[in-house]
Amino acid sequence: MQEKKAEHIRICLEREVESGATGFERFRFIHNALPEIDFRKIDTSTEFLGKKLLAPIMISSMTGGTPEGGRINQNLAKAAQKTKIALALGSQRIAIESPRLASTFKVRKYAKDIVILANIGAVQLNYGFGLKECQRAIKMIGADGIIFHLNPLQEAIQTEGDKNFSKLNGKIKSIAQKLNYPIIVKEVGGGISYQTAKKLNQAGIKIIDVAGWGGTNWAIIEGLRSKNKEIGQIFSNWGIPTMESIIQCKKIKGLQIIASGGIRTGIDIAKAISLGANLAGLAKPFLEPGLKSSKAVEDKINSLIYQLKIAMFCVGARNITQLKKIKLIKVN
Ligand SMILES: Cc1cc2nc3c(=O)[nH]c(=O)nc-3n(C[C@H](O)[C@H](O)[C@H](O)COP(=O)(O)O)c2cc1C
Repeated sequence: MQEKKAEHIRICLEREVESGATGFERFRFIHNALPEIDFRKIDTSTEFLGKKLLAPIMISSMTGGTPEGGRINQNLAKAAQKTKIALALGSQRIAIESPRLASTFKVRKYAKDIVILANIGAVQLNYGFGLKECQRAIKMIGADGIIFHLNPLQEAIQTEGDKNFSKLNGKIKSIAQKLNYPIIVKEVGGGISYQTAKKLNQAGIKIIDVAGWGGTNWAIIEGLRSKNKEIGQIFSNWGIPTMESIIQCKKIKGLQIIASGGIRTGIDIAKAISLGANLAGLAKPFLEPGLKSSKAVEDKINSLIYQLKIAMFCVGARNITQLKKIKLIKVN
């Protein structure tokens, strides 16, 4: 499994693994030439899981389990703490199965008071994982909650993938009833439909991370790994664009939404928030800076926040509450 994790990082850094379009390009804000606010007073702060974030941004789940992954997690954690944004770690299955690898996920000492989220593939609930493993994943890193990722397309294309997704919603429901921590369910680039979100919501899930199509593409990545590039190409167009997924999930009353999948700029973040998302998540854009240094990650976060502030300024939104009320218009 360490080999697989290292390959994912190498392929993401060296190959073209993004494809499609999030749908954000089909919407734009109406420029406000008279915003009547002071740029320096724009407040991007928000609240998530009872903690204050200085910006509605999350570093999405990526890594852990290898020395390189451990270094990346450290850099991400230090930068997330400094800028006070949320951090989700990569799948901890590897560290639950091999506890000696847990140290590559243990970043709480670098990030004392930010939101940190644990991560496990929901399909593992069909391969021996249960409540105990979820509790262990949370405890391992002092997390504020846990993410279950859904990745049927990835597992289907991955030669060694876990392909038994039967009866998963019932298992998620049963964990949600017993676990004393918030659970977030996410995709990994395929998006979450209204029907799926509704089922999950009925199972007790109150936060969905759409992780839609238009950014990192796991069909392509697993196609490259399986040496069957064709299958990856065939399915590279499969998925719900991030924008569409947000709109679908937003129909479910009371559901909190994290927008992710192909979010690349502060304008994308602003659009996601104005559509009703609570946070925006980015994964791959933090991979290269994460390998380099915590300063590189911090620079990346600060540049996203600066872009977000410019977008807020030019629509006349002083804070996130006001940004949520700004309407987008469809351009085609
Ligand atoms: C190198 C890499 C490893 C990833 N590993 C995980 C993982 O372990 N668990 C998970 O839920 N998502 C994982 N993802 C998916 C991301 O969290 C995210 O949903 C997806 O990449 C789409 O976001 P992006 O377009 O901003 O990269 C990984 C992404 C990358 C780039």
